[in-house]
Amino acid sequence: MKKSILVVDDEESIRNSLRGVLKDEGYNVLLACDGEEAIEKAEKDKPNLVLLDIWMPGIDGIEVLKKLKAMFPRLGVIMISGHGTVETAVTATKLGAYDFIEKPLSLDKVVLTIEHALNLQQLEDENEILRQKIHKKYEIIGNSEAITRLTEQITIAAPTNGWILIGGENGTGKELVARSIHRKSLRADNPFVEVNCAAIPEELIESELFGYEKGAFTGAVSQKKGKFDMANGGTIFLDEIADMGLKTQAKILRILQEQEFERVGGTRRIHIDVRVIAATNRDLRKEIELGNFREDLYYRLNVIPLEVPSLRDRKVDIPLLVLHFLKEFSAENGLEEKEISNEALEMFTEYAWPGNIRELKNVIERLVIMTRARVIRKEDIPVPINREPETGEKNCLFDTDSLKAARDGFEKQFIEEKLRGFGDNVSKTAQAIGIERSHLHRKIKSLGIEVTR
Ligand SMILES: Nc1ncnc2c1ncn2[C@@H]1O[C@H](COP(=O)(O)OP(=O)(O)OP(=O)(O)O)[C@@H](O)[C@H]1O
Ligand SMILES: [Mg+2]
Repeated sequence: MKKSILVVDDEESIRNSLRGVLKDEGYNVLLACDGEEAIEKAEKDKPNLVLLDIWMPGIDGIEVLKKLKAMFPRLGVIMISGHGTVETAVTATKLGAYDFIEKPLSLDKVVLTIEHALNLQQLEDENEILRQKIHKKYEIIGNSEAITRLTEQITIAAPTNGWILIGGENGTGKELVARSIHRKSLRADNPFVEVNCAAIPEELIESELFGYEKGAFTGAVSQKKGKFDMANGGTIFLDEIADMGLKTQAKILRILQEQEFERVGGTRRIHIDVRVIAATNRDLRKEIELGNFREDLYYRLNVIPLEVPSLRDRKVDIPLLVLHFLKEFSAENGLEEKEISNEALEMFTEYAWPGNIRELKNVIERLVIMTRARVIRKEDIPVPINREPETGEKNCLFDTDSLKAARDGFEKQFIEEKLRGFGDNVSKTAQAIGIERSHLHRKIKSLGIEVTR
């Protein structure tokens, strides 16, 4: 689309020559002969850029600039003047003008300055779009009482430096809450560093968290920063905190208390300023009783407890979330926005969602991609959300006299349902149903269950 430029000058000859050149350059040109007409046209035609003479009868250019910037803060304005002094140029730039060109105009310079200004504007626009996208990505959707209370607590806690412990079932949005707290905190411009405590082997935890000095061990060819270093000034998010071994817990506790640490192989104490947000899907009190979690660490972390409600406890949010994800995944896949029939939506609200929002999100993504029609109907919904085919299948369990066949049938359905609940994550499913990961893998294979990852 052609960009449009509004030329404001009281001299007709200048308006005409600029119109000629800019038209040749492929722009749409609008003309105004004084300040009033300029403001009117800017309001009506929304030009992409304004070339604005400073000295004009009536309202002068500086006043016009102020008004334009008040109406359209991001509009690019280039000032032109025959009476240009350095002071006027400075005033204009302070008021938000992009640049200043003196008469007699060098048309080459005008064209070049316009190009630069438009390029900058495009970058700023793209930046804004990206920012909004990120903002959208971290939006906490829901208007149930439970989620409203949670967002209120986030708003209160975020700007403080208080440490936060987030609890909640799998897939309820604990990480989302942690990121949202960081984004609303005074540390928002500093890093948010995530540490998945379950994923780091005990023997690597020190070098992961604290980094190491060059030569600390064979292979340490250069210094490496640890996660605590990286999070300095910002927030460190200790995810799945209950999955750390006791030894690691002791180490973490020490550095949390001292806010100081040494890199592996180093002697220098490094002081850090981090805010800690921890999360877990386990009941830490129970873990303390079982001797799996240090009580002192629990009290150190649990300054502000936040509990993310399960989807079951806020069913009124389900339609909102479904529509949100339909929109998101349709756009992400370049598809026309999908809709959902009322009956299908009802199935979503009735289902118990053991895997919470992550499960819901996965199901919607799959449906958006796999459903050809624009409207998703009841028949498109997979088991176990769709209970109708399930009853049929369940009865089949009685079609056999063999206990083994019935048991296999049940196990298959059970495991399939649980896997789906955890987005086909084998480790999490195994943990939830209380068997070893390798055991579950064997079951998946022997029962012929399909997993997507
Ligand atoms: N209220 C919400 N609105 C929109 N999206 C959400 C909401 N809650 C969670 N999500 C999305 O659901 C997914 C799972 O959320 P998240 O990873 O924060 O959960 P979690 O509690 O950390 O899960 P886990 O215990 O498995 O680590 C993410 O993609 C997240 O963006
Ligand atoms: Mg998480």
